[in-house]
Amino acid sequence: MYMNAKAYQFPSTSLIDRFGRRVNYVRLSITDRCDFRCIYCMSETMEFLPRAQILSLEEIFEISRAFVDLGVNKIRITGGEPLVRKGALDLMRRIGALPGLRELVLTTNGSQLEKSAAELKAAKVKRINVSLDSLDAERFRQMTRVGDLGQVLRGIDAALAEGFERIKINTVVLKNRNHDEVADLVAFAIAKKIDISFIEEMPLGIIDGHNRAEEYYSSDDIRRDLEKSFRLLPSAETTGGPTRYFRLAGTNTRVGFISPHSHNFCGTCNRVRVTAEGRLLLCLGNEHSVDLKRMLRANPGDADRLRKAIIKAMALKPERHHFNIKAQPIILRHMNATGG
Ligand code: GTP
Ligand code: 5AD
Ligand code: SF4
Repeated sequence: MYMNAKAYQFPSTSLIDRFGRRVNYVRLSITDRCDFRCIYCMSETMEFLPRAQILSLEEIFEISRAFVDLGVNKIRITGGEPLVRKGALDLMRRIGALPGLRELVLTTNGSQLEKSAAELKAAKVKRINVSLDSLDAERFRQMTRVGDLGQVLRGIDAALAEGFERIKINTVVLKNRNHDEVADLVAFAIAKKIDISFIEEMPLGIIDGHNRAEEYYSSDDIRRDLEKSFRLLPSAETTGGPTRYFRLAGTNTRVGFISPHSHNFCGTCNRVRVTAEGRLLLCLGNEHSVDLKRMLRANPGDADRLRKAIIKAMALKPERHHFNIKAQPIILRHMNATGG
C-alpha cells in the first residue's frame, strides 16, 4: 500500500549518486511517437514501439509519485511529442497536483500547443520549452521533414496568451542549415519576450539525413556570431538544467547555450530520465539503466519496492558522457525514446 514521504521520513532528497550529485530533476518521456521527424533526432523511417511496450499513464503516475516522495521537485514531460499521447493532459494534471513538486514543466515541438495551451495552464504546467530551428517555413520543413512552421508559431502565441512563467525556444544549430539564423531567432525571442537556448547536436542513434561531424556548429561560434548584433552579459541564473545563460542588455530575454561537446556540464548533473519504455536511465549519454516497467508489472502497487529500486539505481549513475560527434554513435537509442 502506498504511504506518503512523511510516513517514511525520507530526507529532502534521498537521491545522491557516487559523485555526491543530488538528483532532484526527472525527465519523463511519455511517448516515443512524434508528428515531426527532425533530422538530428530520427531517421526518416523511424519505427515506434508497440503500445504494450510503453508505460501506461497509471504507471507513469506511480513513478512520478515515487520520485516526488524521494525529494524530486522538478519533473519535465517530454516525448517524442508528449502532446500526441492520448490522456497526456490528464496525466499532467495529476502529476501537477503532487504535493512536494515545485515545478512541472514541458518540452514540446509546439505542433499541438495552439489547442492545448489553456489546458496545460490548468494542469499547473509552469514552463514550456518549444523546439524551433528556423523561422523560414521551407527550412523549418526541411529540418523537421514534415513540420508546419505556422502551426508552431501559433502554438507559441497561444502559450504566451496563457501567461506561462517563462517560455523557452530550443534551437539545435547545424552548420549550413540554420547557423545563419541565430541572430534572427534571438530577435524573435526578444520581440516575444521569451528565452532561447542554442543546442549542440548530440550523437544519439543512427540517422540518415546528414553528417553530424560536418554540420557541427559550436556554442562559441554562435556566441561570436551573436556578438556582432547583441551585447551578451554573462548571468549566473539557472533553471536547474544544463543551459548557461546570458542576459541581453536592455531586454527581458535570456540567451542560453547547451554545449555538451564544448562546455561539458556533467559535473553539475542533477537529473535522471525515464524512457517511454520505462527504463530509468541514469545518463543521456550512457546505457546504465534499471527496468522500472518490469518491476512495476511484477509487483503492482508496491510503492516501497519502487522507491528502493530508484534509490539503489543512483549507484549506477555514470560520471559523464563520452559523446564523440566524429565517430559512429555509441548510443543507438534515438532521442525520441529518451526525450532529450
Ligand atoms: P530547463 O528546465 O528550461 O533548463 O530545460 P532543459 O534545458 O533541462 O530541458 P530541454 O528539454 O529544453 O532540453 C534542452 C536540451 O538539453 C535537449 O537537447 C536535451 O537533450 C539537453 N539536455 C538536457 N539534459 C541533459 C543532460 O543531462 N545531458 C545532455 N548531454 N544534454 C541534456
Ligand atoms: N542533439 C541535440 N538535441 C536534440 N534534440 C533532439 N535530438 C537532438 C540531438 N540529437 C532536442 C530537440 C528538443 C530537445 C528535447 O532535444 O530539439 O528541443
Ligand atoms: Fe519529434 Fe522532438 Fe524528435 Fe523533432 S526532436 S522528431 S519534434 S521528438
